[in-house]
Amino acid sequence: MENLVETTGLCRSFTGRGTLLRGAETTRAVDNVSLTIPKGQTLGLVGESGCGKSTLGRMVVGLLPPDSGDVLVMGKPLWNAAAHDNYRAFRQEMTRHIQMVFQDPYSSLTPRMTVLESVQEPLTCAPAPLPKAQRREGALAMLERVGIEPEQAKRFPHQFSGGQRQRIAIARALVSRPAFVVCDEPTSSLDASVQAQILNLLLDLQDELGLTYLFISHDLAVVRHMSDQVAVMQRGKVVEQAPANTLFTAPQTEYTRLLLHSIMELGK
Ligand SMILES: Nc1ncnc2c1ncn2[C@@H]1O[C@H](COP(=O)(O)OP(=O)(O)OP(=O)(O)O)[C@@H](O)[C@H]1O
Ligand SMILES: [Mg+2]
Repeated sequence: MENLVETTGLCRSFTGRGTLLRGAETTRAVDNVSLTIPKGQTLGLVGESGCGKSTLGRMVVGLLPPDSGDVLVMGKPLWNAAAHDNYRAFRQEMTRHIQMVFQDPYSSLTPRMTVLESVQEPLTCAPAPLPKAQRREGALAMLERVGIEPEQAKRFPHQFSGGQRQRIAIARALVSRPAFVVCDEPTSSLDASVQAQILNLLLDLQDELGLTYLFISHDLAVVRHMSDQVAVMQRGKVVEQAPANTLFTAPQTEYTRLLLHSIMELGK
């Protein structure tokens, strides 16, 4: 099956400031990660807090440069400027094709902009900004698709519930019709019933729009519900990638077994 996205040996470290008594420490947040994401599928990414999931996600969408390694999107290297005739134009095209949905919708919605303005904004971007009337029409249609009525579109983000705000953030991510969306804990701050609605909305939109997802969560049940394949991260490394059913029924590594076991213990 054709891979839409592939990471090759991605690495990223962070160096702290250090103190008078202790030198600066370097954290290997992502350590030589190679993953493949087939077109139209969802790769779930799980692992304990601090294992490097968000750092990986930010490199994959083009927000954070890796120290080494690269991300191939439709075979083209996202971070290697020398491989492109016109890197600027390529990156502009990629901002349309690759989008991200965050845990906290406030990070993608500007408090002083109406939700209609926020959702329209991606359509103003080069290389092909749309005329005003089409932007408005596109944004209203996408808002309606996620369950926000046109008469609510003039409101500001704080006038909505958490679940509605996440719907708006999803509309903003999808309005430019991307091929690939990284969802980083998109429902972790919502209560269970709202969480289920948003997850099902993401699944329906995937079918309708042919989307490919990298779905990051520390919640194994959620990842199982959403994913075709699952990758397990531990301290910056991917220790296992397998089809979701295989991973949950026949985990290959001790770490995955421990993760599954700890979830079952919690559920008792
Ligand atoms: N901007 C940064 N500066 C310094 N250290 C960072 C930065 N971002 C992440 N880190 C460190 O990199 C490691 C991985 O962090 P990351 O946020 O990717 O983990 P995560 O798996 O997303 O965790 P969580 O499940 O809690 O969201 C952590 O040790 C974190 O402290
Ligand atoms: Mg994170």
